[in-house]
Amino acid sequence: MSTATLEADAPAPEIEAPKPFTVTFIIRRFDPDTDAEARWQDFDVEMYATDRILDALHKIKWEQDGSLTFRRSCAHGVCGSDAMRINGRNRLACKTLIKDLDITKPIYIEAIKGLPLEKDLIVDMEPFFQSFREVQPFLQSATAPEPGKERVQSVAQRAIFDDTTKCILCAACTSSCPVFWTDGQYFGPAAIVNAHRFIFDSRDDQAKVRLDILNDQEGVWRCRTTFNCTEACPRGIEVTKAIAEVKQAVMRGRA
Ligand code: SF4
Ligand code: FES
Repeated sequence: MSTATLEADAPAPEIEAPKPFTVTFIIRRFDPDTDAEARWQDFDVEMYATDRILDALHKIKWEQDGSLTFRRSCAHGVCGSDAMRINGRNRLACKTLIKDLDITKPIYIEAIKGLPLEKDLIVDMEPFFQSFREVQPFLQSATAPEPGKERVQSVAQRAIFDDTTKCILCAACTSSCPVFWTDGQYFGPAAIVNAHRFIFDSRDDQAKVRLDILNDQEGVWRCRTTFNCTEACPRGIEVTKAIAEVKQAVMRGRA
């Protein structure tokens, strides 16, 4: 009998099943049809350490209260639709693990700040996307590449704006910015990040147009360098650094 057969016959080691535990979530609810103002509601949910906040929201919606309203799409940190305030910090619900939070206390969940609240965890994103559109976040070039050729860009040229290509437009940065909360006109970090992505792209020739837009009184100079945006970004983008680079480009008058 071969060694392999003996090993196959040996009893499999017992693997202990993970144990669930109860977590209390306190969620800020608002239904425009019935509520004059937002209210907090408690839910006790059976969770595992490897569950995410998004799993908790699903469990509440599917098992306790179908009216709980929130956005999500990819569930894997790509679409940017489930940014919310979790224990006072802007995070993606699908990227926040229960094991990384203090479950000896209730977990507070509410909508992101600074944008009009529509229902429960959903805000109106239109003002956010309006600012995004205003910075012309698309490649513009007056010249066409040679027929059959690509626009050549070196690794070093690409590296200059690599960080800001990672934005998923979740609004976690913009809605964590105290200037944005108090001044509804400020473009906000996400719009500047997306302007940065094209201002520093060597294939684009409309940097000056975007720099003029951001030199406006509601543009980059509103930033007070609080770093809330960098701390909030689930993609790890150095948002404050990108804003500083755009400020320097505005002063130079070119990328
Ligand atoms: S910069 Fe980061 S936090 Fe801001 S919108 Fe983009 S991905 Fe979200
Ligand atoms: S659901 Fe898409 S980023 Fe969280």
